[in-house]
Amino acid sequence: MRLDKLLAHMGYGSRKDVKKLIRKGYVKVNNEVIVDDDFQINEEEDEVIIFDEEIEYNKYIYLMMNKPAGYICANYSNNERIIFEMIDGLPLRGLFTVGRLDKDTEGLLLITNDGMLCHNLLSYKNHVEKTYYLKFDGTITDSKIKRLESGIEIEDYVTKPAKFKKISDDEGELTICEGKFHQVKKMMEAVDCPVLYLKRIKFGGLDLDPNLKLGEYRHLTEEEINILKQKSE
Ligand code: URA
Repeated sequence: MRLDKLLAHMGYGSRKDVKKLIRKGYVKVNNEVIVDDDFQINEEEDEVIIFDEEIEYNKYIYLMMNKPAGYICANYSNNERIIFEMIDGLPLRGLFTVGRLDKDTEGLLLITNDGMLCHNLLSYKNHVEKTYYLKFDGTITDSKIKRLESGIEIEDYVTKPAKFKKISDDEGELTICEGKFHQVKKMMEAVDCPVLYLKRIKFGGLDLDPNLKLGEYRHLTEEEINILKQKSE
């Protein structure tokens, strides 16, 4: 792989930024300063040091974003803002969102280039849980909660068992293990409690990091990646 490609992939800046770093002599390969950005390296064997720090090559990227409303989960759009606009200094090619949140939904969004993990997390066979905090119109009652939890008809589909935690008459948390299009909104609509505000707060054993402001993201830790892998096996 080209040295500039590897550094961009590892988040040290755009291709243009990392070329500058290389030309200024900040990068060593096997203890030798390299100033050619097209220098070919073997990412499995060569030792690459930048700013005196060895980098560990990792071909997969795993991010957690606190998605704000107003952005869509798509790689391209002519007329809408896309969540990838908020990602800086990482090559976007090959990255995708793990499932989608609606334009007006906020909260925990996973972004990766690991197709296998994404597939496993979304596979209905793995029953990966997602929890949403919601505010809604109308009033929730015990019988409505029972219907939400035991399976409710939305269009021509009956939802799988879910959990509803009541916070107040018009506020709660819904945990589902599927991801049908607009599923939470349709489930709440079906019990006459249409959603006014929706935020995903958990996905596959991970909580939304409270330190992430809307629009911010961070790399997942090894431990978090392992939790996701275990949840989706
Ligand atoms: N369910 C919805 O209705 N919308 C979302 O964004 C996510 C789940």
